[in-house]
Amino acid sequence: MSCEAESRNATAPEPGVAPPVGGGPAGQDIDPARVAQGLVERFGPGGGDPRVADAVPGFDAPFFQAGLCGYSDAAMRIVARRHGCPACVTESLLDITLLAGGRGFVKADLGDLADNVPGGDEDTPLIGQIMGCEPRTMAAAAIKMVEQGSRSPKSYRALAGADGPLATGLGPEGTRRLDTTPIAGDQAPITSFGAVDVNLACPVKKIRKKARGGHWLAQPDGAIEILEAVRESLPPSVPVTVKMRRGFDDTPEMAANFERIFDAAYDIGCAWVTVHGRTVEQKYVGPSRWDLLREIVSRAHERDRAAGREPRVVFGSGDIWTAADVFRMIAYTGASGASVARGCIGNPWMFRQCRDLLAGRNKRQPSLAEQREVLAEHFELAMAVNARMVRGGDAERAESFTGRTMRKFGIKFAALHPDADTVQRAFTQIKSLDDWQDVLEQHYGNA
Ligand SMILES: Cc1cc2nc3c(=O)[nH]c(=O)nc-3n(C[C@H](O)[C@H](O)[C@H](O)COP(=O)(O)O)c2cc1C
Repeated sequence: MSCEAESRNATAPEPGVAPPVGGGPAGQDIDPARVAQGLVERFGPGGGDPRVADAVPGFDAPFFQAGLCGYSDAAMRIVARRHGCPACVTESLLDITLLAGGRGFVKADLGDLADNVPGGDEDTPLIGQIMGCEPRTMAAAAIKMVEQGSRSPKSYRALAGADGPLATGLGPEGTRRLDTTPIAGDQAPITSFGAVDVNLACPVKKIRKKARGGHWLAQPDGAIEILEAVRESLPPSVPVTVKMRRGFDDTPEMAANFERIFDAAYDIGCAWVTVHGRTVEQKYVGPSRWDLLREIVSRAHERDRAAGREPRVVFGSGDIWTAADVFRMIAYTGASGASVARGCIGNPWMFRQCRDLLAGRNKRQPSLAEQREVLAEHFELAMAVNARMVRGGDAERAESFTGRTMRKFGIKFAALHPDADTVQRAFTQIKSLDDWQDVLEQHYGNA
């Protein structure tokens, strides 16, 4: 079962658990505009911690578009970026898919290689997310991702399988020299990944049984080995980040495991960890525990202070449904920023509204005319992305594939329409570009 299918069992959107603490306001009572202004005064117009932009140039604001399996392809990412999103994560890609992939676009449990291919100059900075069960395979996949497959597929598989130190071809300072020779032809990569994110969060059972994703939160030694292997295999200039849940389950044993892996990630040299405030067992059911995220961040910063280090960068995830939630989460939990996930599916204007709050403006709601324009643009971008995926670039097949895959986006976009139910029903019938345009004409036509 994919993340997408698991999320269908999720409970309806509700605020993260964030009761008043120490005489302060509850999460929902925090004024997001004031928080945004505070960030701008502290860090400059983007409001992002400068250490984040130092690691990933261009990542200037305290939020990003999360990896969203089945959604966050190049088309969705570009739409988000056009609305002010400073950085995006690909959906999680299995290490073995990446290594087997080549141009065959091997379909796996999660993700499709094509969805993770950078979508041109505009699709940057892009953080590529990988998930797997073997340190060596993960490291080889990370190298292949960063190099965008510029060596032969066989040589990457050899890296994963070879005995001895992973970092063959080490540079004089012990850093891996990346072969950045561009690939000839029109399939050449256009842009590169700004960072590699290791997924230790995915709750999907099938994946857990194979010891991947969130499974590792119950096996700290293995998780740490993976993080070490990925970090060591890449040059220091390529940041490694981590996605975790706040624990495998709610037992004290798993809380201790979480803390071990979380601390090890920073000790190993990962730039930051994004913590989702639900457990792996919880999947997408029930609220995200912002109160526990707050404890995690505060305890970590205490440990940093005691060790004479600067407070680490932590991102929070879970129940970010509006632009206001981004700033409320930051103020409530003490995180450096928030990961925007389900809240931005069909609502890229969330990013514009975050930028509005940072600029001290009132948040702008999208007019129907803007909604129509973006709906048309998203379909067009999806067609371009899918044309690369469909064998032989067959335009008709790309269109029909796009028609089917865009339904779920249309349904989400329709939530902003005054007659949401009718428009959602119309989007469920889409098969082609003509159908899409008909819905726009009929329901957004007078915009
Ligand atoms: C359909 C779906 C797919 C997801 N795919 C990924 C993924 O590929 N990588 C990842 O790190 N997180 C993935 N997530 C988790 C989200 O990034 C996020 O952590 C989670 O949805 C909680 O945030 P929210 O409550 O604001 O949606 C996925 C979530 C959903 C609902």
